[in-house]
Amino acid sequence: MAQNVAQLTPVLSAAPVVPVIVLDDIDAAAPLADALVKGGLPALEVTLRTPNALAIIKEMAGIEGAFVGSGTVRNKKQIEQSIEAGATFMVSPGAPSTLLADAEAYDVPLLPGVSTATEAMAAADAGYSYLKLFPAEAVGGAKLLKSFASPLPDLKFCPTGGVSPENALNYLSLPNVVCVGGSWVVPNEAIKNREFDKIEALAREAAQLGK
Ligand code: 3PG
Repeated sequence: MAQNVAQLTPVLSAAPVVPVIVLDDIDAAAPLADALVKGGLPALEVTLRTPNALAIIKEMAGIEGAFVGSGTVRNKKQIEQSIEAGATFMVSPGAPSTLLADAEAYDVPLLPGVSTATEAMAAADAGYSYLKLFPAEAVGGAKLLKSFASPLPDLKFCPTGGVSPENALNYLSLPNVVCVGGSWVVPNEAIKNREFDKIEALAREAAQLGK
């Protein structure tokens, strides 16, 4: 099937910001997800960049109200591992045609990354209407997405990479932006020091962006 839009829409529309999580500490998984959900950010992208990432997805998937997805998905094996761990969406930094084709065999939707009009058009032709712009700030940021809106009106983006509280509104005010992704709401130091109240406060501020 093409990208499962019915499953992806509520995830990407749940809040203005999707936290991008790089975590290896399983003990921090549940309290971190809890803090983010309580702060108003229910959609969580757990990147497959650490040895314990899949175990962390499993743990977070048990938190009430959380939509837990995998990130940095690069191949079919990681698609299968993500689904097995309980991910309800998947995110990739790129959109190679093999990955787009592989993901079509599963109900769990993939949000592929693009950085040019040509890549966006290829993904659209393959049945993908929600795309991640990556790395957003480095490839042209809000100006690039503003330029995509008229020629590619059927596509909606989640820009990620270099997005911050300072520039998030530039993206969120565009008609073709559904949400942004970012790691600023999950600072490593706060996780290490178990300052989950601080993370909840950051999430609460992020959840108000654009409102
Ligand atoms: C990533 O790949 O880590 C994400 O794009 C997050 O980027 P950021 O740290 O700039 O928010």
